[in-house]
Amino acid sequence: MNPTEQAKKRAGYAAADLVQDGMIVGLGTGSTVFFAMERLSERIRQGLTILGIPTSAQASLRARAYGIPLTTLDDHPEIDIAIDGADQVDAALRLIKGRGAAHTRERVVAGAARELVIVIDPGKRTDLLSAAVPVEVLPFAATPVIRRLEAMGAATAIREGVKKDGPVVTDNSGWIIDCDFGTITDPQSLETTINNIPGVVCCGIFSEFTGKTKVIMGDAGGIRMFSS
Ligand code: A5P
Repeated sequence: MNPTEQAKKRAGYAAADLVQDGMIVGLGTGSTVFFAMERLSERIRQGLTILGIPTSAQASLRARAYGIPLTTLDDHPEIDIAIDGADQVDAALRLIKGRGAAHTRERVVAGAARELVIVIDPGKRTDLLSAAVPVEVLPFAATPVIRRLEAMGAATAIREGVKKDGPVVTDNSGWIIDCDFGTITDPQSLETTINNIPGVVCCGIFSEFTGKTKVIMGDAGGIRMFSS
């Protein structure tokens, strides 16, 4: 396992160890959360009783493979703890998410959770957010939304499939517009402006959860935790 994978594993395992018996657990998407699921799976075999709410088809498939019992927001609209990854985390614990096109459901689960635990490797920490912002759109609205995003200064690209020709289609039947705004000086304002464009489902800037966010960063020697 390379150092980045080791860092992800340390972060994921530490997050899974925060989970207590009887909890409803939001299960994020991506490679770092896989490690949290791996550890939850071990703990379930040792007697831990939890129910998971997956944020994507990927998370659902992996959770089932790990033997993590699942439920839905309809049956459990309040989540005790959500464990998720991020593409970038700034000093104020604001996030860019959506590399895996799952950020809309990830936001729903984060919003329903009492605590949001973000698991990262050191490459994700930054002073100022600057990664491309994924924006999920209704395909019907893609062209006018792209025009609005470009008028705001973004360089845009419709995300294309890797083993599928044409646009990536999300779990919600949306498309993803990746938007490069360069350095983002006011993430909250940009998030609100993008999310208010008609036809936008949800963008990947998460600035509203900082008060309940704990970031666990794995590194070469162990983990570091950040909270507000
Ligand atoms: C999914 O759409 C994303 O928000 C992921 O949670 C994020 O990209 C982190 O993924 P990794 O842990 O694989 O870097």
